[in-house]
Amino acid sequence: MSKTAELKIGDASYQLPLVEGTENETGIDIGSLRSESGLITLDPGFKNTGSTKSAITFLDGEKGILRYRGYSIEELAEKSTFIEVAYLLIYGELPTPEQLSAFQNDIKVHTLVHEDIKKILEGFPSNAHPMGVLSSLVTSLTAFYPESLDPNRSADKVNLSIIRILAKMPTFAAWAYKNEVGHPVNYPDNELDYCSNFLKMMFALPAEKYEVDPVIANALDKLLILHADHEQNCSTSTVRVVGSSQASLYASISAGINALWGPLHGGANSAVINMLENIKKDGGDTKKWMAKAKDKDDPFRLMGFGHRVYKNFDPRAKIIKKAADDVLAKLGVNDPVLDIAKGLEEVALNDEYFVERKLYPNVDFYSGIIYRALGIPVDMFTVMFALGRLPGWIAQWKEMRENHEPIGRPRQIYVGENLRPYKGVSER
Ligand code: SDX
Repeated sequence: MSKTAELKIGDASYQLPLVEGTENETGIDIGSLRSESGLITLDPGFKNTGSTKSAITFLDGEKGILRYRGYSIEELAEKSTFIEVAYLLIYGELPTPEQLSAFQNDIKVHTLVHEDIKKILEGFPSNAHPMGVLSSLVTSLTAFYPESLDPNRSADKVNLSIIRILAKMPTFAAWAYKNEVGHPVNYPDNELDYCSNFLKMMFALPAEKYEVDPVIANALDKLLILHADHEQNCSTSTVRVVGSSQASLYASISAGINALWGPLHGGANSAVINMLENIKKDGGDTKKWMAKAKDKDDPFRLMGFGHRVYKNFDPRAKIIKKAADDVLAKLGVNDPVLDIAKGLEEVALNDEYFVERKLYPNVDFYSGIIYRALGIPVDMFTVMFALGRLPGWIAQWKEMRENHEPIGRPRQIYVGENLRPYKGVSER
């Protein structure tokens, strides 16, 4: 293949370099387009536009491939742990036993948060959405660790900021839940692993002895692995753009949390369960709701379906669907919305509208069913997504910083008023 693309506009011709990735993806480098031609490209939603070259995660939407640093999601979900996957994403290689042990210990010594953070938490009413609480508590770290405001510090000091937020995010997430249910917060128990500590902080009550169920802890660990990174999705792109202004890691992660909150992105897992519950209340008529999803005049969309990249199947959805069956069986939970979900999937996979548009279940379609079986309330589902995505956000922020990428500042095509003279109010 030629190493350049030729762009012809009228009599003018421009040679634009082609960039080829290690998985043979090819892009047109338009870095010189405006200076050479005065033209820009336009691509709302960046559906056809790459923002960076990254070595972290590879997706193939046609083949349903997802790999973290070259390792398949299927192998990692089956054989690894969330903390090991976090290390892999952030530092680029699987840790040796000594590196993994040191990483786990580094995290354990930073799980406690400053006691004054409880005063911030107490300022939230109990109806505060946990995602708003989470992003606020993450931003508050800039106050308790002002040295973190400078992203240009030594690698060791930046790494300390990374360890701190990996360690404190489960504490913040559990505290956001406790604020919502009006229970006293629990402090971290560093005798436990990452997921068990989180579950204990979430569900332990003063008057009762809480024992972590290993089935639940293992299911949660697998779910966090499946959510850990997903290349340049909406929230990760937000983290990169905010970080590109040299805002701090914590400010960038807080921005990512808020981007993830939207129902078209990470908020979809909660929206799926609410949708399934509505369909159940409405008598479980999946065909009626499929018709609504296809009706352009109806704002209803089949939440948990469709994906910007996956046009075949989302490999994570396949793994989560099987895990849902396993976990609910192990816990002896019979959730009728699981059958409704499977019914919707079956109808959609054979419906021309969905097949034509290549709409398949995505990561959010079945995950809420497992979270609910684990006893996690619906509006905490997106917090769980954020907990899983944290190492991916960190890895992408770190890569952007280490590659000294320029500040993110897209151009536009102006379609507003042309120059017009000002008229005072008496002249109008
Ligand atoms: C995540 O990017 C990532 O990697 C994200 C994520 C990650 O790990 O970070 O994978 C996590 O966000 C998963 C997606 C969760 N969101 C949902 O489940 C919400 C429901 N899905 C849609 O809103 C939609 O599919 C998106 C947002 C996921 C993708 O939107 P696109 O790529 O902009 O596609 P589109 O909206 O242009 O849709 C193309 C066509 C349209 O029909 P036409 O105009 O061509 O006739 O498909 C239709 C859409 O109306 N369509 C749907 C639909 N999704 C798309 N119709 C009904 N129900 C749906 N869910």
